[in-house]
Amino acid sequence: ATPDESATKRVLLAAPRGYCAGVDRAVVTVEKALDLYGPPVYVRKQIVHNKHVVTTLEKRGAIFVDETDEVPEGATVIFSAHGVAPVVHDEAKALSLKTIDATCPLVTKVHREAVRFADDDYDILLIGHEGHEEVVGTSGEAPEHITLVQSPDHVDEVEVRDPEKVVWLSQTTLSVDETMETVRRLREKFPQLQDPPSDDICYATQNRQLAVKQMAPETDLMIVVGSTNSSNSVRLVEVAIEHGAKDGHLVDYADEIDESWLEGVQTVGVTSGASVPEVLVRDVLDFLARHGFEDVKAITAAEESLLFALPNELRRDLKARQ
Ligand code: F3S
Repeated sequence: ATPDESATKRVLLAAPRGYCAGVDRAVVTVEKALDLYGPPVYVRKQIVHNKHVVTTLEKRGAIFVDETDEVPEGATVIFSAHGVAPVVHDEAKALSLKTIDATCPLVTKVHREAVRFADDDYDILLIGHEGHEEVVGTSGEAPEHITLVQSPDHVDEVEVRDPEKVVWLSQTTLSVDETMETVRRLREKFPQLQDPPSDDICYATQNRQLAVKQMAPETDLMIVVGSTNSSNSVRLVEVAIEHGAKDGHLVDYADEIDESWLEGVQTVGVTSGASVPEVLVRDVLDFLARHGFEDVKAITAAEESLLFALPNELRRDLKARQ
């Protein structure tokens, strides 16, 4: 690049980005469990949806399994941040497993709402993505009462027993705007539709989308660091494009950035999903700096300070060891 060209190149760096309180707690839970009990420690499903985090923990002795029955009898198993259906707790009990539940407290909150509305015999319309672990877990709290609604286009096919007794809940990591559109259409169909007692889309999802919305109109290329199975990360690329970013890509690592993406680009937006360690963002910034994008400006949409205590089961054992 000529000096003139590089003078116009810049990076907008989103804040907040990366780890949320629920991910931080889940990752630290596995690390502390490894320290305390020694490897191997079993983890049901990916503790958080990030390739780098999973590989790093695997190297330290965590063994990731898909189902509880893959864990040897009597061993320790950690449940991932996305939550589990009650039947999974029962399976673990039947196998005499020691369980540590790293479900994000904001997911647990949605489980509680589901249980409460099911107890009151509501039809619950759960907005979320079929097959996502969080949706499987939440649905498992009240399978008879919950109907999954995947997008605004699926509203037409939704049926309920009593349109006077309907509530919507949602997955925590959806697009805020698309969810509101789904709710709008649901309410057209069921005017008595009740809202959840508080937002189900969590603060971290909302804040990361807010920052991307602010940056997108000025952005030629949005790079979102995150894994393809990370719902909130995938949403960030979509939100960027919807709000005016000319191009957008999801990458796990800096070396996945294709140099051709940078052709003719002046402003690159950078952010990361809620399960992404900051070191991976630093690598992307280093890559960009090597390509003439040295000028980095932070775009701060919100301040975050939330922290969650570690799971009780683990805290008890940590205390006993002191
Ligand atoms: Fe929890 Fe939201 Fe993170 S639900 S795990 S705080 S993305």
